[in-house]
Amino acid sequence: MKAIVAVDLNWGIGFNNQLLERIPEDMKYFKEMTLGKTVVMGRETFESLPGKKPLKERKNIILTTNKNYFGEDMIIYHSLDKLLQEIKAHSQEDVFVIGGESVYSQLLPYCTEIYVTKIEKAYEADKYFINLDKLGWEKVYESEAKNYNGIAFRFTKYVKI
Ligand SMILES: NC(=O)c1ccc[n+]([C@@H]2O[C@H](COP(=O)([O-])OP(=O)(O)OC[C@H]3O[C@@H](n4cnc5c(N)ncnc54)[C@H](OP(=O)(O)O)[C@@H]3O)[C@@H](O)[C@H]2O)c1
Repeated sequence: MKAIVAVDLNWGIGFNNQLLERIPEDMKYFKEMTLGKTVVMGRETFESLPGKKPLKERKNIILTTNKNYFGEDMIIYHSLDKLLQEIKAHSQEDVFVIGGESVYSQLLPYCTEIYVTKIEKAYEADKYFINLDKLGWEKVYESEAKNYNGIAFRFTKYVKI
């Protein structure tokens, strides 16, 4: 399993159930990385998507405890165990965990690579990703600095040692 996330200087990822920044090049990168794959997200993240619609051309898996939660073009699981069983049964599929905070932290132990977009600015945040540098993950790739409206950002890749 892989994860993909955009973090700020403090590993912040969201505020008021929204992203900290919408960087078009990062959105394009996220789309390219996940297209044709399985994406796993929490109910809050799903509801923060534009139009509350599943991501196109991807198998969308939503985690919620709400047994009455339904929607078109998505698969719903009500527990981590059930999700992990299903993922194991389809182990040939490329699975990306796409957030938010609670789902990243629960699935981090099952991830082997994480694609982290690092935004070199500190925002007001109420949701965070765990600091992979402190956890001993290895950064194996870092792009050159890119720029969006004066905000620097880089694409990086971490692997579990
Ligand atoms: N920067 C990034 O790359 C990035 C990416 C994604 C999201 N985000 C941000 O992250 C924030 C949302 O994170 P969040 O932690 O509040 O919410 P979340 O992880 O997206 O969703 C949490 C919800 O998922 C369901 N859930 C989680 N674990 C479950 C389990 N084991 N079994 C069943 N259901 C489970 C629950 O839904 P019910 O309450 O319905 O039971 C829970 O309330 C937003 O600010 C969003 O913008 C940032």
